[in-house]
Amino acid sequence: MNKVLVSLLLTLGLTGAAQAAGDAAAGQNKVMLCSACHNADGNSAAPNFPKLAGQGERYLLKQMKDIKAGSTPGAPEGVGRKVLEMTGMLDTFSDQDLEDIAAYFASQKGSIGAADPALVERGEALWRGGKLAEGMPACTGCHAPNGIGNAAAAYPKLNGQHAAYIAKQLTDFREGVRTNDGDTMIMRAIAAKLSNKDIQALSSYIQGLH
Ligand code: HEC
Ligand code: HEC
Repeated sequence: MNKVLVSLLLTLGLTGAAQAAGDAAAGQNKVMLCSACHNADGNSAAPNFPKLAGQGERYLLKQMKDIKAGSTPGAPEGVGRKVLEMTGMLDTFSDQDLEDIAAYFASQKGSIGAADPALVERGEALWRGGKLAEGMPACTGCHAPNGIGNAAAAYPKLNGQHAAYIAKQLTDFREGVRTNDGDTMIMRAIAAKLSNKDIQALSSYIQGLH
């Protein structure tokens, strides 16, 4: 291999390892369109629009790629993740744009909501204990006891997220409407064990978790 190529590869490899792929400052200039629903800092006001602030960079990037694939007009059923409100919206963004946007929202501080006191006991029991008799693991194993998730593994942060959004996701996983949780179908398998009341309690608990 010639020397120039070797040093070029080394440089690329080193910069790749030294910093995350996305540039948060560049990302801030690319989220004008998004702020209408998700707010400029990613703490959306409306309960059906997810908060993106403080979410893990890898998870955000994966979701944007999935939404881009599933929300391109004419995309076949079952591809990626379909978000009607975002139809066609990510089509003109390059991978670098999406990496920058992910880095930007990941760098923002997520706000926390409040849990309904009447639902805390049931929500917390499911969150911490799962349903062992039915083979359903606790949420804490992947999303962490305080709900911050596992950024390196792309397990999403959940704490402080709007209850209405969480409830819709768990229902969508259970009903097979959201199918982008990979070949292991982790979240579809878990949501299959949750009743509507379980989902309501968990979602409220998560909204106030900190
Ligand atoms: C018209 C409103 C709207 C706009 C504008 C919008 N989104 Fe969304 N976005 C949504 C909704 C609604 C969802 C959740 C859909 C669902 O329930 O599954 C979502 C979901 C997401 C998610 C997944 C969050 C998660 O926790 O899984 C990401 C990431 C995202 N949007 C990024 C963006 C970016 C980046 C832009 C700008 C380029 C944008 N959105 C513009 C409405 C919008
Ligand atoms: C074995 C690991 C694992 C366990 C246990 C687990 N999750 Fe998840 N969860 C994931 C992964 C991975 C994703 C992201 C899937 C994807 O890439 O779309 C996810 C996604 C989610 C989402 C969607 C987040 C968003 O922003 O759209 C919700 C809500 C959620 N999980 C709730 C729960 C709850 C509640 C429990 C416990 C009842 C639980 N999870 C248990 C791994 C897990």
